[in-house]
Amino acid sequence: MIKKKIKIAIDSPAAAGGGTIGKALSKYFNLLYLDTGKIYRYIAYLKKSSPRKSNLNFLKKKIKVLKLKELEKQSLSSNEIGTLASLIAKDKKIRQLVYNFQINCAYKFPKKFNGSCLDGRDITYKIIPDADFKFYITASLKVRTIRRYKELIKLGKKTTIADVRKSIKSRDYSDLNRRISPLKRTKDSILINTSNLTKKACFLKIKNIIEKEIKY
Ligand code: C5P
Repeated sequence: MIKKKIKIAIDSPAAAGGGTIGKALSKYFNLLYLDTGKIYRYIAYLKKSSPRKSNLNFLKKKIKVLKLKELEKQSLSSNEIGTLASLIAKDKKIRQLVYNFQINCAYKFPKKFNGSCLDGRDITYKIIPDADFKFYITASLKVRTIRRYKELIKLGKKTTIADVRKSIKSRDYSDLNRRISPLKRTKDSILINTSNLTKKACFLKIKNIIEKEIKY
């Protein structure tokens, strides 16, 4: 049993493994998990499916009643929605819109959880700056491309390695260079390069770092 509630913040570029790790850690430590990219993807999806309706007011209402379950929908996983999400995520008003949802997950999680774990691009310095554990998870472009390609094929999406590489590259550029909330590694984040690590090895590495610090 964890005595103190913990908050884990993870930032990572697209397809580096941040989500996989976040999910596995949350299951192991019984934390509320939020893949924050999914909220931007959800907004991108709304904008794409009902472009005329999806003004700020409409989106605000949708986010207010948003349930975590809704973010698990497969329709949010496509490359196209990822690219659109990355464009939308540059908008200050959109980021403000999803700020409270993230804060609620990070700080006001239900009592049954031992804490929270969020992954995204600005979690370590904007959403949970006081996190107990901060990680910056990365991997080479080549490894990320292959991983994402396999994921998409498994989901039945039609794509090519070249397309996936191009879309990850352009998202990297946009996420790293945007003016508001760019992806960056904070000084107090532990760097984990997953290029040569299996999912299990990566999980064990981070789990051990956390377990060393928390008291049982
Ligand atoms: O993590 P994922 O690839 O699903 O995120 C989709 C897009 O949402 C990212 O490319 C990024 O532009 C945006 N995002 C963000 N801030 C976050 C999480 C995701 O800007 N905290």
